[in-house]
Amino acid sequence: MKEKSVVTPWEVKGDVDYSKLIKEFGVSKIDEKLLTRIKKHAGELHYLLRRGVFFAHRDLNWLLDEYEKGNNFFLYTGRAPSGSVHIGHLMPWILTKWLQDKFGVELWFQFPDEEKFLFKKDLNFDEIEKWTNENMLDVIALGFDVKKTHFLVDTRHAGLMYKEACKVAKRLTFSMIKASFGLNESSNAGEIFYTSMQAVPAFLPSILKGKEIPCLIPHAIDQDPHFRLTRDILPKLGHYKPASIQCVFLPPLIGANGKMSSSENNAIFTTDSPKEVETKIKKYAFSGGRDTLEEHRKHGGNPDVDVSFQYLRFLFEPDDKKLQKVHDDYKSGKMTTGELKAITIEKINAFLKDHQKKRQEAKKLVEKFLYKS
Ligand code: TRP
Repeated sequence: MKEKSVVTPWEVKGDVDYSKLIKEFGVSKIDEKLLTRIKKHAGELHYLLRRGVFFAHRDLNWLLDEYEKGNNFFLYTGRAPSGSVHIGHLMPWILTKWLQDKFGVELWFQFPDEEKFLFKKDLNFDEIEKWTNENMLDVIALGFDVKKTHFLVDTRHAGLMYKEACKVAKRLTFSMIKASFGLNESSNAGEIFYTSMQAVPAFLPSILKGKEIPCLIPHAIDQDPHFRLTRDILPKLGHYKPASIQCVFLPPLIGANGKMSSSENNAIFTTDSPKEVETKIKKYAFSGGRDTLEEHRKHGGNPDVDVSFQYLRFLFEPDDKKLQKVHDDYKSGKMTTGELKAITIEKINAFLKDHQKKRQEAKKLVEKFLYKS
């Protein structure tokens, strides 16, 4: 029997069916018409959009209507610091960076450093502070424009954010929160309040500028419940509903339609050494190949379930033609699993080498990215 899948901001379990999620969550599928519209303004389409990794949205057509009227938007995304960044975390940030470049817009990046403190039993603020600083390096390394990017750290920017969060919290009832997240009577008071903090960056720039600015939130689909509630409340406070664009999860090393997660040993971290990457891919990456070379040559492999191929598709081979060739060669049996893994290891390591260098250089930029009022 298939395990029933669960997708909430705190837990992703089982084999996720994304078309079912579209219905359950009430988001809209990104269709060809919308892609054409984005392409018209951006001049091209990012591979994460072309390949359907970003598959759903809320109100993106409205956002583009406003953009066409000259009412430009800002971007908002975030990361709850609690451990090392893995390659799955990078997907929404890579698209965010592309959107910032193409549309020339500001980005507000939230580091809710209280979130994992509230939701994880054994995490203290000293550890979290360390991770906040570490995680910022990964974000900066992706190349965001320092003049147009503002980091908000919830406990450090509490003076700016708390009043706004209270305005949201006053309109959010316990039953609304319970219904969206599966929290219950024994959830702690901080967990129940938390969504109000995650809502704030969606309208804080409008408060600061004294005029309404549309907001676009790129994020992985599990964060949608927070923004569903945010969208219910913001119009009541005189603000626009934020638009959003959602991606699927990067598969974990062990495969299937789950989510790469740091808690289990099936992730590739941005700080992994070339040797670690090699071992993880060789030993753990689920293969779509056949049991014997003979069978593989005869019947071919299955790129759709092959984790190495999926990593190329999601992140490491932006060239569609090259990706197609790997796909076809693997499927026909011309390319072996060993060869496919070797390509993937090389690509990931080339990416990480560059990323790790930029991460080092990012250390001197952190101060400049932090928002100062
Ligand atoms: N809750 C997110 C996490 O667990 C962090 C986050 C805060 C976020 N604001 C966001 C993610 C906006 C996406 C968009 O990492």
